[in-house]
Amino acid sequence: MTAPTGADPLAGRELELDIGPVAHGGHCVARYEGRVVFVRHALPGERVRALVTEDGGGSYLRADAVEILTAAPGRVTPPCPFAGPGRCGGCDFQHVAPTEQRALKAAVVREQLQRLGGFAEAELDALAPAVAEELPGGALGWRTRVRYAVDAEGRAGLHPHRSDAVLPIDRCLIATPEVQALDVPGVRWPGVSGVEAVASGVGDRAVVLTPGRGAAAPAALDPAVAVVAAGGRGAAKPVRGHARVRERAADRTWLVHADGFWQVHPAAADTLVGAVADALGVRPGEHVWDLYGGVGLFAGALAPVAGRVTVVESGAVAVADARRNLRDLPDVTVHQARVDQWLRRPSPAADVVVLDPPRSGAGPEVMRSVLTGAGGRRHAPRRVAYVACDPAALARDLRTARSHGWRLAELRVFDLFPMTHHVECMAVLEPDTA
Ligand SMILES: C[S@@+](CC[C@H](N)C(=O)[O-])C[C@H]1O[C@@H](n2cnc3c(N)ncnc32)[C@H](O)[C@@H]1O
Repeated sequence: MTAPTGADPLAGRELELDIGPVAHGGHCVARYEGRVVFVRHALPGERVRALVTEDGGGSYLRADAVEILTAAPGRVTPPCPFAGPGRCGGCDFQHVAPTEQRALKAAVVREQLQRLGGFAEAELDALAPAVAEELPGGALGWRTRVRYAVDAEGRAGLHPHRSDAVLPIDRCLIATPEVQALDVPGVRWPGVSGVEAVASGVGDRAVVLTPGRGAAAPAALDPAVAVVAAGGRGAAKPVRGHARVRERAADRTWLVHADGFWQVHPAAADTLVGAVADALGVRPGEHVWDLYGGVGLFAGALAPVAGRVTVVESGAVAVADARRNLRDLPDVTVHQARVDQWLRRPSPAADVVVLDPPRSGAGPEVMRSVLTGAGGRRHAPRRVAYVACDPAALARDLRTARSHGWRLAELRVFDLFPMTHHVECMAVLEPDTA
């Protein structure tokens, strides 16, 4: 076979490939005639026949393993009938045994820290776990929120990988039984492009419609389920019932707008709160910053020990929920601001900091400001707990931290999203006094 010369010459062709290591994004890396091939539905060490799905003519191709010629020991039959090449794009690892999924995720974190974070092999041998930590409940039936796409006929389904098409499904096996019981795919949803099914940890149930303006509650839906019009930048509005659901974590009850941010695994919030509390070891009288604070989860958990907690969150709706959730804690202040802008204002220095940014990470400016006590603050914090949903962004921010004289003291990797490639990390940073 000759090397490609124009755009898309290999798309639609089948290639026999030896599969190399797992990469960030739910695929493994193979090579074909000097080019990288990102192969989904494969495992490291396998030999597969792969269908090329994209060839932009550049240095890499995308492909799906459509026939496994030599299987790796971690391969299993996908429990979900909608998983596989060209089918639902929601789960990347249905063909992988859960223990092996956790090893793959730890390998991805390690690779990102090495390549983007500049960490040496020896440092990672000492710090990076070989396997992501498992949460209770197993690899299926954990997702408390599922976002379905809706086609022009009003049928709900899920998108194939890198596609806007809507694949009809009858149920999603990673959803909790309560979300599955909402039976969103069994109901018609005319006039909306998306429906999010929410079944909270304390039994509140809602569906969020996008766009929700003027939408009506479908007659076939259980009348006990709230119907909410997605808020976009504003607050979600109830079409029927309440716009907020209750959640339980850190021995408190939380009110969260149904379209707002809350961890989707039922054990995730408590797992992260426990990890952050252990890592920071907050002492009475200390001042905590909870940056990117959402509805106040970490602040609510740490405030009973700390002297003072400052929450910074940019979303007006999340801020309103946080103020309400934390109103029994007089030493907590919630600021509505972008973290980068808030850090430019004069503010009392923090002793410890929680950073829980969105997927894009905190970025160099926020990292510098937090770690150096910039802006005229009296001192830098003694410790920072960084919670990350994207290991690439974490790796880049850790590189920045090291450039300011901080060291990675601890790294934990959690499998908060079984069957998918997504992985959560908690990194603990300390000033490098060595
Ligand atoms: C990963 S969530 C974490 C929320 C919270 N810590 C929790 O665990 O529930 C990130 C939060 O950061 C907020 N956010 C995104 N960009 C921000 C920014 N530049 N400044 C402040 N908050 C931001 C989002 O609205 C969201 O609530």
